[in-house]
Amino acid sequence: MRNQPGSSNNRHLAAARSAVIADGSFRPELAPRLDQQSVLAAYSRWAPIYDFVFAKLFFFGAFFDMSRKRAITHINTRTGTLLEVGVGTGVALSRYAPHLAVTGIDLSPDMLALARKRAVKEHLSHVRDLKEMDAAHLEFADDSFDTVAVMYTITVVPHPDLVLEEIARVLKPGGEAIFVSHFASDEPWRKAIETAITPRTEQLGWRPDFPVSRILGHPRLDLVEIRRMPPLGVFSIVRLKKTEEAQAAA
Ligand SMILES: C[S@@+](CC[C@H](N)C(=O)[O-])C[C@H]1O[C@@H](n2cnc3c(N)ncnc32)[C@H](O)[C@@H]1O
Repeated sequence: MRNQPGSSNNRHLAAARSAVIADGSFRPELAPRLDQQSVLAAYSRWAPIYDFVFAKLFFFGAFFDMSRKRAITHINTRTGTLLEVGVGTGVALSRYAPHLAVTGIDLSPDMLALARKRAVKEHLSHVRDLKEMDAAHLEFADDSFDTVAVMYTITVVPHPDLVLEEIARVLKPGGEAIFVSHFASDEPWRKAIETAITPRTEQLGWRPDFPVSRILGHPRLDLVEIRRMPPLGVFSIVRLKKTEEAQAAA
């Protein structure tokens, strides 16, 4: 998943970097528009139909799955321990390579129940644990995971800045966090759609206007790559690497 010099992905990367510098980036959220109750309510509603809508070939499923698949292909080149934050119904679990030791966490008991059922039904022995947990308060020791996957989740969590801080804490130095999400666009037609549906944030259960700069600029997480995914670059894969220096500083 490397960028060629001068590619549109690299231009996007450069633009994102300057956006971070311009707006100072990493800062706590003052007025979250999603709270824990609205997330729990939204995913209790989504759980029974989630796979049908977001992971199968019809509706938006194929669309979402294209970026998910690409991220998983990269994740499977890695070794050691993997944490999936916001594992949901576990649509990725059977696709993680068996050499990875996988832990999944999710806030929603309804989504997690389906992930657990799937792990048992499909005999997924590489899935070590599926835990109900708030990503803003991870119950893991510092430097626990080689890789953290955050697919379609960072724009959903009530406190993304705290979640990023926790990801930076539990990643091993040199470890990678891989995000897949829709991030706010600068293109007028997309921006217009995002603006139109943003008032529905609570019902949707995610923020359509979440800027990518929000996950960039953390002092312990270096940007490796931003890859806008086809079709139309609606979703992006963002890779961040925990600095090796974090170990020395700790
Ligand atoms: C859109 S789903 C993504 C599921 C899965 N990762 C996928 O690729 O389809 C977002 C998930 O994030 C979970 N979530 C939201 N806030 C959370 C939090 N604070 N801590 C842990 N999980 C959270 C939701 O319950 C939901 O299952």
